[in-house]
Amino acid sequence: MREKIEKLKQDAAKAIREKVANLGELNDIRVKYLGKKGELTAILRGMSQLSAEDRPKIGKIVNEARAQLEALIQEKNEQLKARELADKLSSERIDVTLPGRQRPLGHLHPLTLTLNRIKEIFLNMGFSVEEGPEIEKDYFNFEALNLPKDHPARDMQDSFYITEDILMRTQTSPVQARTMQSHEPNSPIRMIAPGRVYRRDDYDATHSPMFTQVEGLVIDKGISFADLKGTLETALRQIFNDKVGVRFRPSFFPFTEPSTEVDISCVMCHGEGCRVCKGTGWLEILGAGMVHPHVLEMSGYDPAKVSGFAFGLGVERIAMLSYGVDDLRLFYDNDVRFLRQF
Ligand code: FA5
Ligand code: MG
Repeated sequence: MREKIEKLKQDAAKAIREKVANLGELNDIRVKYLGKKGELTAILRGMSQLSAEDRPKIGKIVNEARAQLEALIQEKNEQLKARELADKLSSERIDVTLPGRQRPLGHLHPLTLTLNRIKEIFLNMGFSVEEGPEIEKDYFNFEALNLPKDHPARDMQDSFYITEDILMRTQTSPVQARTMQSHEPNSPIRMIAPGRVYRRDDYDATHSPMFTQVEGLVIDKGISFADLKGTLETALRQIFNDKVGVRFRPSFFPFTEPSTEVDISCVMCHGEGCRVCKGTGWLEILGAGMVHPHVLEMSGYDPAKVSGFAFGLGVERIAMLSYGVDDLRLFYDNDVRFLRQF
């Protein structure tokens, strides 16, 4: 009996030490020897057949063997667990030196690019950048610009009214009056004011009910129409890299006198006439003029002491001509196939 137990113990120990490769196999061994129907358990069960003298001795040996095997199993169990953890750690290791996932990088909208370019050119000429609200008072949008309530020229810029006296601004020109009123009377001004404007207008190849303007205002002693022409020509030559024709034509604005509108030769048809230039060979990009004396007066400036010029550029039109885009609506469709090209 002793030998049998010793042999069982040796076999089990050998199996545990040498054969078992994982936790599953270890459990099989435990069941095989120590489980309910295990071999060592069977010996304990059969003890009733032993003599009263042998019973405690054999029982002691079996229990010792059992304790030894349990200790071995426990030890092996810890070894296997440690190895499994090590395997897991090495197989799931993250290589932090691998290149990361690249997020596709977007870029600026063509209108923003155009606006930035215009700003840069005027900043280089010493202009500051002013801002005004898109929801504007009737007073700044019209009255302070020499357009009293019943003035017929208001019809050219029908707007979206919020109340009787508050509207979506139809032009950036109200920033002229705001800027003058925030300055010491008669102090010099050289500013641009970019921003969105709103009109009850068509939506076609060259018009949108929401579009972008850049206002400009220069006031000082002795400013003349020559300054207006020189400044705008210089800026336009930089915007279009000398590639286009520039034409000044007489026009009317209630807040400037004299007034002019400036056209750029149509880059789409090179003057032959197309739907962008409506067959004329030219596209209007801005309105301008010498600031009307009454407009200066209304905002606290003295027309006997200073004079000035102002202009309002259409940014979408400039973007169309500089990128050769034949429909303004493309800027607002947000079709990435279009936008990716800039
Ligand atoms: C004005 O808005 C005047 N405030 C400009 C001005 C400023 C004159 C300072 C004198 C002194 P006008 O309505 O022409 O003018 O608009 C100016 C420019 O905005 C146009 O030349 C054109 O380039 C652009 N524009 C006008 N309407 C639209 C529209 N619906 N969609 C896109 N661009 C437009
Ligand atoms: Mg116009």
